Amino acid sequence: MIRPRRNRRTPAIRSMICETKLSSADFILPMFLHEDQVDTPISSMPGVTRWCLESLVREAGEAHALGIPAVVLFPKIEESLKTPGAEESYHSNGLIPRAIRALKEAHPTLCVITDIALDPYNSDGHDGIVRRNSRGELIILNDETIDVLCQQAVCHARAGADIVAPSDMMDGRVAAIRAALDDEDFTDVSILSYTAKYASALYGPFRGALDSAPKDGDKKTYQMDPANSREAVRETLLDEDEGADMLMVKPAGFYLDIISKVRETTTLPVAAYQVSGEYLMLKSAAAGGWLDERTVVLESLTAIKRAGADMILTYFAKSAASWLGEGK
Ligand code: PBG
Repeated sequence: MIRPRRNRRTPAIRSMICETKLSSADFILPMFLHEDQVDTPISSMPGVTRWCLESLVREAGEAHALGIPAVVLFPKIEESLKTPGAEESYHSNGLIPRAIRALKEAHPTLCVITDIALDPYNSDGHDGIVRRNSRGELIILNDETIDVLCQQAVCHARAGADIVAPSDMMDGRVAAIRAALDDEDFTDVSILSYTAKYASALYGPFRGALDSAPKDGDKKTYQMDPANSREAVRETLLDEDEGADMLMVKPAGFYLDIISKVRETTTLPVAAYQVSGEYLMLKSAAAGGWLDERTVVLESLTAIKRAGADMILTYFAKSAASWLGEGK
């Protein structure tokens, strides 16, 4: 008889045949920040905090010491600074540029990634600039938005960002941002493109954290339909062609088939974003005592890596890294 169970017999044998090994070097920690002087726990995401600048720097340092190579920043912008044109998104002394400078000064080896999109800055809460057409329908202007995204990317590059990550899903933005960065001599700044970003209900807790939900309408004219996968291949080929350095699939856990498809389509590194709703589902089940947090979180991250992700954006990054115990 052929007995596959022999390969599962002891921990030593299992460790040798293990195909997917998680490491803290796989993780990117998403961090929320605001202008206030105090830290605020985020009610929609238990265990996650919106940091003031000083705490952000400390927390990022702790993450880095646990072996996490990168953080990605998400700002909560004061209501009074939000405008239809999202001008605050490229203000050279805005919250994000100041945070980048503080992080790079304190932790020069930490990779700082910034989100490129207008939703935290835009009075309409959309990733792009909004206009109404003659029939009163909401239109997200593609090309006008790209001009602002380019300014935002250059602004972050000037402040010292290592990687800019456009999450807006406008057409042609990767090529435009690449050209804008190169024009300003930021040829070393990378682009991590949100290539296949779905119009998912799982972003709800994140929008609560940043007060960035769309005031009107939804994001279905730019984010992808969860029913589609061929479209993800099309977006992959385009982003690769436009000069992206890394691609992302988002969300992660419900979209493992997409991660795997993107992995097979490109030779570029692939990231996957375990988003706020995924975090909340696991966290609340664990808090209720219904799931074992450590085991289920590591299983979810292993599944995302097994599907083909090289990097995982996860709010569990620090916990997972300390469970893996590889820190300095
Ligand atoms: C916005 C952005 C969103 C997330 C990351 N960047 C929300 C959205 O598209 O509405 C969601 C992340 C999460 O849910 O954890 N550009």
